[in-house]
Amino acid sequence: MKVTVVGAGNVGSTCANVLAHNEVANEIVLLDIKEGVAEGKALDMWETSPINLYDSRIVGSTNDYAKTANSEVVVITSGLPRKPGMSRDDLIATNANIVKSVTENVIKHSPNAKIVIVSNPLDVMTYCAYLTAKVDPSRVFGMAGVLDTARYRSFLALELNVSPKDIQAVLMGGHGDTMVPLPRYTTVGGIPVTELISEDKLNEIIERTKFGGGEIVKLLGTSAWYAPGAAAAQMVEAIVKDQKRVFPVCAWLQGEYNMKDIYLGVPVILGKNGIEKIIELDLNDAEKTLLEESAVAVRGVMKVLDDMGVVA
Ligand code: LAC
Repeated sequence: MKVTVVGAGNVGSTCANVLAHNEVANEIVLLDIKEGVAEGKALDMWETSPINLYDSRIVGSTNDYAKTANSEVVVITSGLPRKPGMSRDDLIATNANIVKSVTENVIKHSPNAKIVIVSNPLDVMTYCAYLTAKVDPSRVFGMAGVLDTARYRSFLALELNVSPKDIQAVLMGGHGDTMVPLPRYTTVGGIPVTELISEDKLNEIIERTKFGGGEIVKLLGTSAWYAPGAAAAQMVEAIVKDQKRVFPVCAWLQGEYNMKDIYLGVPVILGKNGIEKIIELDLNDAEKTLLEESAVAVRGVMKVLDDMGVVA
């Protein structure tokens, strides 16, 4: 069983490291365009195997896609990260060309792979990969909801002084400032979160979550990697082990939530076939309005991609 991570930058290498550490696949290929970087990082990781006690092989490759052949899952992290002052959407022109060429190579060597997109702007790069790959959208989807709910849950855990393990939440919409955390679907050990926290505090945490990526960019001068890498690895694990996990994932909607032809974050069941089911929640009017606003923002960036004509 082989899993490939394209892009050996901070996010890609963190993802590969988590996959190896958790022995999610027996072969993990890390590929990058920069000479020697993937090989170097793969070797450095492999040298931790006697310490961390795992035996997943990590193979580095400088742009040799033959090494990725017949991967079960491919994670695409390629592209530039944000710098302070940039929105994720500012990256579109550069990253669309990169994601397109990476996807072409991926699908050529692993025609049956499930493809998890991590590159930003997330929803639209997932759309770009889908248009390029020309495979069923159940096999092309984006990582954002696992990361965004993780941020939301981690902030709630700090505020309530409870274990993050006990916080469950759903968050929908695009991976941007319009994302929609859903308090009505947030529980702490089965208890509705609204019984444990004031409305004001909860709203503060929701706002912090929406700008959670930006908070890290401001601190570090580049975007986050520990949480994004771990989130992508968790999705890979769900697929490889056919766990049927319920995660918010950036998925192609075909009528669900009354939306069509758009990639947007929604709860799904993730298993060996990729997205096995999109779960439709019975949203109230206020939640529907927020989701629709988020969809408008995502459609705006999808149109930028369409108008650029990068993908036919
Ligand atoms: C973030 C980037 C990876 O949210 O989109 O940190």
